[in-house]
Amino acid sequence: MKKITITTQYDSFDSLEELSENDRAVLLLAKKSLENSYSPYSNFKVGAAVLLRNGELMGGSNYENASYPLCICAEQTVLTTAANIYPGVAPLVIAIAIRNPAQVIDRPGLPCGACRQVICETEMKNNQPIRVVLQGETGPIFVFENGRDLLPLAFDKTFL
Ligand code: THU
Repeated sequence: MKKITITTQYDSFDSLEELSENDRAVLLLAKKSLENSYSPYSNFKVGAAVLLRNGELMGGSNYENASYPLCICAEQTVLTTAANIYPGVAPLVIAIAIRNPAQVIDRPGLPCGACRQVICETEMKNNQPIRVVLQGETGPIFVFENGRDLLPLAFDKTFL
C-alpha cells in the first residue's frame, strides 16, 4: 500500500484593491450579474463572469426551475454562453460571487463539483488554464491559478 498525498494551493487577498485590475473587473461583474439571478426556490444568488482571451467580459447567473434538478449554475451559464458567442476563444479568468439574502456570507462561495468539472473541461478543450476568483458578499478573496487546483482528480477525456 502506498499513501498518496495531493496538495493544492490558492492565494487569499484581503480586499478588492489588492487584486490585479483584470481580476477586480471580472469579480465586480460577477457581483453585478448576481442581480440577474433567477432563484425563487433557493433564494441563493450566484453571479459568474468571465474575461476571455480576446478581452471580452461576460456575466451570467444561476437559473432555477420548479423541477429542482434542472437548476443551472451561474458558472455553467457563463461558460456555455461565452463558448457560443465567442467560439474558440478561451477564458482567462472566471469570477464567482454569491449573495444569500438570509445571511451575510463572509467567506468565498466555492463552486459545486459539477461546475469545477465544467471549468476543467473548458481548460482542457482550450489547453489553457482559467484563473478562478471567488468572494462571498464580504471577506477574503480566493484566487486559484486554474480549475485543476479546485478539482485535482477530475474525470477527463483521456478515459474515453
Ligand atoms: N449554484 C451555482 O450557481 N453555482 C454553484 O457552484 C453552486 C450552486 C446555484 C444553484 C442553485 O440555483 C443555488 O445555487 C442553490 O444551490
